[in-house]
Amino acid sequence: MRDQIRSIEEDAIREIGACGGGKDIVESLRIKYLGRKGVITELFKKMGSVSAEEKRDIGGLINSLKEKVSTALNEKMALAAHSAEESGRIDVTLPGVPGRIGRIHPVTKTINEISALFISLGFRIVEGPEMETEHYNFETLNIPLEHPSRDAFDTFYLSFEKKILLRSHTSPVQTRFMEKNKPPFAIIVPGRVFRPDATDASHSFMFHQVEGLVVGENITFADLKGTLTTFARQMFGKDARMRFRPSFFPFTEPSAEVDISCIVCHGKTADKRCSMCGGKGWLEIMGAGMVNPKVFEAVGYDPVKVTGFAFGMGVERIAILKYGINDIRLFFENDVRFLRQF
Ligand code: DAH
Repeated sequence: MRDQIRSIEEDAIREIGACGGGKDIVESLRIKYLGRKGVITELFKKMGSVSAEEKRDIGGLINSLKEKVSTALNEKMALAAHSAEESGRIDVTLPGVPGRIGRIHPVTKTINEISALFISLGFRIVEGPEMETEHYNFETLNIPLEHPSRDAFDTFYLSFEKKILLRSHTSPVQTRFMEKNKPPFAIIVPGRVFRPDATDASHSFMFHQVEGLVVGENITFADLKGTLTTFARQMFGKDARMRFRPSFFPFTEPSAEVDISCIVCHGKTADKRCSMCGGKGWLEIMGAGMVNPKVFEAVGYDPVKVTGFAFGMGVERIAILKYGINDIRLFFENDVRFLRQF
């Protein structure tokens, strides 16, 4: 009996040790030795024929054999499981999973483009607060309390007592900047603005503007026209024609609405079916004008000595025209199928 136990132990340890297979093969070895009809189980069954004096010793030997074999099997099983996982994890011949790369938002992209263009003309970029006082949003810009044009923008108050609201345009940065700086200078001011407009395909309560301001001695309307024409040609192509329509803004005098020839039909035939201009032949792109002397007075400049021009354009409007987008809401919905196209 002792010899039999020893030889089984030798065989089992050798067989388990040599086994290089997977879980199934290790499992079949477990059944062979420890299963219900396994070699070691059969040994236990033979205990009945062992003499009373020997029972203790023989029983101990079989138990320790069982333990050694089961430890060896457990180790093999762990190894087999590990290597199965490993081989499942690495297949160096498979192509990699490409990471998704983010993009610049079309509004930011348009602001960057406009900024680069004006920087090349000698402008520098200035920013101002989105939370603004009535004083800068209206008063310094010659929009007094009773002015009718104030009605449309007089909203989004953060505090009535403190007269603080979300700015309705980037123009307040004009007077904020002039109070702290002396002419001559040329600045543009990109930023977010807020209006009480109901949202639809062409309106949003929040959008972006780029304001421009040039002040110095002998700045004339010709400088305004030259600068804005250069801008429009670079932005929309060298064939773009410009039109300056007389208009009104409290902070400029004289004032103009600036149009470019339709980028789809080029305004040549004034085609009523044109999806972009509907036959008008022109597209409005911004407001502009010579700085009103009252604005210079509000910041302590001498309007006899200095003159200047200002302009303000909607960034989404420029992007809509440039990229042929048909709904302003697309900019703010964060649908990656739209954003991925820029
Ligand atoms: N602030 C005007 C608006 O939001 C846009 C504008 C028009 C700005 C004429 C100007 C300007 O600087 O000269 O509608």
